[in-house]
Amino acid sequence: MRRLAPALRLDGADAELIDLIKSIVAACKEISFRVGQGELSDVLGSTLNENVQGETQKKLDVISNELLKDLILETGSVMAISSEEEESTVPGNPQGKYLVTFDPLDGSSNTDINSLIGTIFSILPAPQGADPADPSIFLQPGTAQIAAGYVLYGPATLMALTTGKGTKMYTLDKTYGGFLLTTEQVSIPGVTSEFAINMSNQRYWQPAMQNYIADLLKGKEGPRGKNFNMRWIAAMVGDVHRILCRGGIFAYPRDLKDPKKPDKLRLMYEANPMSFLVEQAGGASTTGYERIMKIQPVDIHQRVPVILGSKHEVESCLQYHQPM
Ligand code: F6P
Ligand code: MN
Repeated sequence: MRRLAPALRLDGADAELIDLIKSIVAACKEISFRVGQGELSDVLGSTLNENVQGETQKKLDVISNELLKDLILETGSVMAISSEEEESTVPGNPQGKYLVTFDPLDGSSNTDINSLIGTIFSILPAPQGADPADPSIFLQPGTAQIAAGYVLYGPATLMALTTGKGTKMYTLDKTYGGFLLTTEQVSIPGVTSEFAINMSNQRYWQPAMQNYIADLLKGKEGPRGKNFNMRWIAAMVGDVHRILCRGGIFAYPRDLKDPKKPDKLRLMYEANPMSFLVEQAGGASTTGYERIMKIQPVDIHQRVPVILGSKHEVESCLQYHQPM
């Protein structure tokens, strides 16, 4: 089985990019080990701090963030990093070629129940000559991504990765300590009968999503003429992983539960990297009104509605959305 670096080289990645991805992977291997230790690692439970999103930080979030930040900045090829756990960006080498934005521990509330969590990352080009301390260098659309991926800490530790040459999956071989290529080309089936959405928000959704889900729930007797199954892992990384493995549609639509926070998922380090992986695997990703990767970001912590997965199902969902 092929190791990570040779597989990346075959896809045309240069030495600096391979080194950077290896550093991200090194941090994730340590996170994987700590996650696997559960309560024994003495890192679970809440700290007293709140992060910039107003959520209670877990110690594991903090540790994962520090590990990724340190190892990524140590490469010397990174001009700055941006993280869910950092209010602003953190400058690195002014000559660095890359920017890295990441969610160190997606689905972190799942740590308490020994359920799926993961790290999501996105690599962007650094504008040469720019000020490494200027957060606006990150405000590039998803189409500018050089690479994106996630590492899922499940029964096996897996990585989905794209450098724009398809989406590949690697599995951490704990006997030798490295990632091995286990799926050469991920391909999301275009048709599905499985959806993932937090149904408890149903009454707060906009009419388009209300009508779409209502039709799925009508099953065989409804306009779709077939029964749909539902899954919700409460960690985007877990739901997207299932979709890469066997198809499906995932949605975190706009809702009016908290009018100050109509969208939940973050564009730069959740929606964009997942959209890149999904599109490279033959799927689609949209807000309902536009392709996610075309959005011009205005803020590093910006939130967006997300609908992604099996191409034909995303297209069916789009039919319910009127152009704005
Ligand atoms: O990072 C945000 C996140 O944890 C996602 O990973 C996940 O899909 C979603 O929020 C879960 O939301 P909810 O708490 O509404 O189930
Ligand atoms: Mn997250």
